[in-house]
Amino acid sequence: MRMYDIITKKKMGESLTKEEIYGFVEGYTKGEIPDYQVSALLMAICFQGMNDEETAFLTNAIEASGDCIDLAEFGKLTVDKHSTGGVGDKTTLIVAPLAASLGCKVAKMSGRGLGHTGGTVDKLESFPGYKTSLTKEEFISCVREHGICVIGQSGNLAPADKKLYALRDVTATVNSLPLICSSIMGKKLASGANSIVLDVKCGSGSFMKTPKDATELAERMVKIGSMCKKNVAALITDMDRPLGYEIGNILEVKEAIAVLMGEGPEDLVEICLSLASLMAHLSLDIPLPEARSRAEEALRSGLAYEKFKEWLKAQGADISYAENTSLFPVAKYKYDIVSETDGYISAMDAEKIGLCAVCLGAGRMTKTDSIDLSAGITLKKKTGDFVRKGETVMTLYSNDEAKFSTAEAELSGALSYSKTPAHERKLIYKTITKEDI
Ligand code: URA
Repeated sequence: MRMYDIITKKKMGESLTKEEIYGFVEGYTKGEIPDYQVSALLMAICFQGMNDEETAFLTNAIEASGDCIDLAEFGKLTVDKHSTGGVGDKTTLIVAPLAASLGCKVAKMSGRGLGHTGGTVDKLESFPGYKTSLTKEEFISCVREHGICVIGQSGNLAPADKKLYALRDVTATVNSLPLICSSIMGKKLASGANSIVLDVKCGSGSFMKTPKDATELAERMVKIGSMCKKNVAALITDMDRPLGYEIGNILEVKEAIAVLMGEGPEDLVEICLSLASLMAHLSLDIPLPEARSRAEEALRSGLAYEKFKEWLKAQGADISYAENTSLFPVAKYKYDIVSETDGYISAMDAEKIGLCAVCLGAGRMTKTDSIDLSAGITLKKKTGDFVRKGETVMTLYSNDEAKFSTAEAELSGALSYSKTPAHERKLIYKTITKEDI
């Protein structure tokens, strides 16, 4: 197998064989194929695409490139959830204990935030003591005892994806359907859960800007999951405005706790109930309406909140913070952004708002940047709301006052106004199961 021939084949729009795909993934992971040849192949894939069979081979090659977690002892009860990334997306903090409180075995590896999107691992580190790194044995034993464990991605899980993603990031080849699909599904398969619920975000704050593109990605991932004998379903959800009102690690943790205590904003509650119901439907094999009413009851009764505290304690966190959120540190400085006009907010650019939060210290632009856990944004108004000139639309928080000016500059053009109310946007566009494709 010559890498030159594989590049040529894909450049001409031909399909690659299993041996060719495994060969380039293995060779690249071992350092035997140089970046420039893999970059050329990735670019050819961006232009020529890959069919379902090639995408499945690439997914399996990524999965097989490192450790795989064996969760077979839990039978069909294991379930994982993955979001394609968004702004204000704190759903895992709610959905994981909610599904576990219904009897699902939630075994999940989460990521850190990068770019304008936040990551669950950073949010969990807001709790003093929470261990995001466990051995394989500790991870499985936590799932066995508590029905839930959420850690950062283990060092040797899907190492091929780490290398390929880093290369894609600097060669403008992130935005390719088969590459995104195999990257996400390769990691999910290696994590071992039998069922996988995908939250495919769509809109200004996500990779997929339109429902059509998001649907195409979701369908491909559900299909590849089924080809790999997993029970996969996806929700296409709105990311044309941030989810909930809080953006930034501690701010989001507090909002998640409010939901678990039976409060919290409607959009966040609805997406969490829909995701948790789908997780229970797939892994417990119960009808979706029954899963939904059990999820609603678990939120209402406090069962999910109790499971949340049990989970945090099991992973070493000081749960007094979950019982009294005023213990969390608050940023030293705040700065109000006020409306310059009277009118209805007709659109919010979630990506710009996410980047503003990063500028405040809530996220990182490179993997080695450090994070200010109490930095972030509280939205006072969202799309559809009426505002008066001079009224506060959002408050920015940071421990570094000098950051407000660059953060405010990121917000230029982030909000649009109109004289009449905007059309109500859908929160959940559709659910895609393997029966739909
Ligand atoms: N998230 C991933 O894990 N991989 C991609 O390629 C895109 C989003």
